[in-house]
Amino acid sequence: MSYDEEIEERLRRRELRAERAQRYLRKRSELDEVMEEVFDRVTLMTIYDLMNDRLIEDFYGVISSGKESRIYYARGCDGVELAVKIYLVTSAEFKHNRMAYVVDDPRFKRVPTDFRKFINLWAQREFKNLEEAYEAGVAVPRPRFVRRNVLGMDFLGRDGARYPLLSELEAEQEEFAELYEKTLNVVAALYQKAGLVHGDLSQFNIIVADGLEVYLIDLAQAVKRGHPIAEPSLIHGLETLARFFAKKGVEVDDLDTMLNRVRGGV
Ligand SMILES: Nc1ncnc2c1ncn2[C@@H]1O[C@H](COP(=O)(O)OP(=O)(O)OP(=O)(O)O)[C@@H](O)[C@H]1O
Ligand SMILES: [Mg+2]
Repeated sequence: MSYDEEIEERLRRRELRAERAQRYLRKRSELDEVMEEVFDRVTLMTIYDLMNDRLIEDFYGVISSGKESRIYYARGCDGVELAVKIYLVTSAEFKHNRMAYVVDDPRFKRVPTDFRKFINLWAQREFKNLEEAYEAGVAVPRPRFVRRNVLGMDFLGRDGARYPLLSELEAEQEEFAELYEKTLNVVAALYQKAGLVHGDLSQFNIIVADGLEVYLIDLAQAVKRGHPIAEPSLIHGLETLARFFAKKGVEVDDLDTMLNRVRGGV
């Protein structure tokens, strides 16, 4: 086979796979129409591969539909409930907002110019951050897999319904006081044990499970301690949380006290 023919053949096979992926998805789930609307072919193919490799058994519903990502409630073949976060490669604002985080991160030296690669990198970042946090014993959803722009993690919820975000929670003042303490402890654990700063800390990126258990989510923007963005973003996050809890009637610490608590002896 000539070189050109080989390329042709490869492209043809790739097309076939994409078509198969689409057919497969159409067959597999009622969400497919939505998926096809939202996702490009490579993303569909990635989803297909993940199902083929039995990392995802099936999709059951959309948990969240944002500008930059969609999150599906899914199940792994081992029966584990998953939250599958799919970054949209079509999101225009994405690159612009995110560049600064990757540029100075020693773990990701090369900044790809290609947009798709950039989005993929973003998913890898979130996975890596989740992994580092999870392995350090910080309360985050357990990461399960990442492939291209698709990330799988444990679903935080019960009976298929996700737990509320801190922002959505209805609770008594004493409960918010307890949540304030717990939140600071988790942020401190992330800082001290995993060496990470969340990067987008707020009541919208905290999930509260039964028994007022606090989980941090959405770690794509987390950076290592010492990263130029780390301190300003930690301060910004703590201020945001202080404002939130103060509105709930909690007696919050001043910023320096909060910072000291988070940093501990580090
Ligand atoms: N592991 C999980 N278990 C259950 N629900 C989750 C999980 N991860 C995320 N979610 C839900 O999906 C939403 C969006 O997730 P996330 O914050 O990671 O993405 P995002 O990029 O901020 O998206 P958005 O722009 O829509 O906020 C969360 O607010 C939460 O409701
Ligand atoms: Mg979020």
